[in-house]
Amino acid sequence: MEIKKVGVVGCGLMGGGIAQTCAQSGYQVTVSEINDDLLSKGLAAIRKRLAKSVEKGKLAKEEEESIAGRLKGTTNTGDFADCDIVVEAAVENLELKKKIFADIDGICRPGIVLATNTSCLSITEIAVATKRPDKVIGTHFFNPVPVMKLLEVVTTIVSSQVTLDTVKAFGESLGKNVIVAKDTPAFIVNRILTPMMLEAIRLYEAGVATREDIDTGITLGLNHPMGPLTLADFVGLDTMYFITEAMYEETKDPKFAAPLLLRRMVKAGHLGRKTGKGFYDYQ
Ligand code: 3HC
Repeated sequence: MEIKKVGVVGCGLMGGGIAQTCAQSGYQVTVSEINDDLLSKGLAAIRKRLAKSVEKGKLAKEEEESIAGRLKGTTNTGDFADCDIVVEAAVENLELKKKIFADIDGICRPGIVLATNTSCLSITEIAVATKRPDKVIGTHFFNPVPVMKLLEVVTTIVSSQVTLDTVKAFGESLGKNVIVAKDTPAFIVNRILTPMMLEAIRLYEAGVATREDIDTGITLGLNHPMGPLTLADFVGLDTMYFITEAMYEETKDPKFAAPLLLRRMVKAGHLGRKTGKGFYDYQ
């Protein structure tokens, strides 16, 4: 089935980035939020990024307008009825995601693919909350979505080959390199990345080195664009904590246990860039 119209559930950091990327790739996009306030914040963040690209001379003014014209915000999931694919990017909560999938399953045409951007939850558990588990798949994007070239597609023992082929072609149409993983805790990238970030936090917590030296070690020693503590602030410490808890819960492997410092920072609301304070200060 040809994809013309994309639905995106959630217009936060990831959902907004996915919606923007789809609109930039020529798709009509309907993006939803749970209330008008979050929706206007999400849409304003997209418009700000587009305006910045125009300012930098990377995007023509007319192109900015046509991208914005392809984006429609809603607080009513009923508006997904005419979408050809829906990508869910709500908060990382399994019960919530199951509820969203059961809801959109009843709204969307039976033939279309329902994808989740979860970074760590079981796609199979989400799939079986619908009457179309063969058409449910993981599409794990990376932050910032319009910039990052990767899409990690996650298959399950119940997803079909047609679903995989559809989503691979969709990802490539967004200009992404697609990699495929099975439904296992944190898939490929976060499975490798998380232990590294946790180890960086443990080193910092133990006073082995300063945050700057830990980050410089990785940026200059391994040529990463950001050190692990800066990256943790960038991703959000609540998200990181959630990923590590989910991995630990599924595997009981102590290497995924959240360091005490991470727990305390999340409790204190030091979530990284989005709250102005994490391992570094952004005030
Ligand atoms: N949204 C959209 N575009 C953004 C952006 C954002 N939040 N932040 C930066 N950009 C764009 C800029 O506009 C710029 O675009 P241009 O080249 O067209 O002008 C480009 O990215 C480069 O930005 P800057 O020059 O301002 O800054 P940098 O060169 O430092 O790049 C970065 C910023 C791309 C974020 C780079 O630091 C980077 O690659 N960092 C690592 C990102 C990373 O590892 N992401 C994965 C996180 S893990 C994840 O997402 C999985 C999840 O499950 C946790």
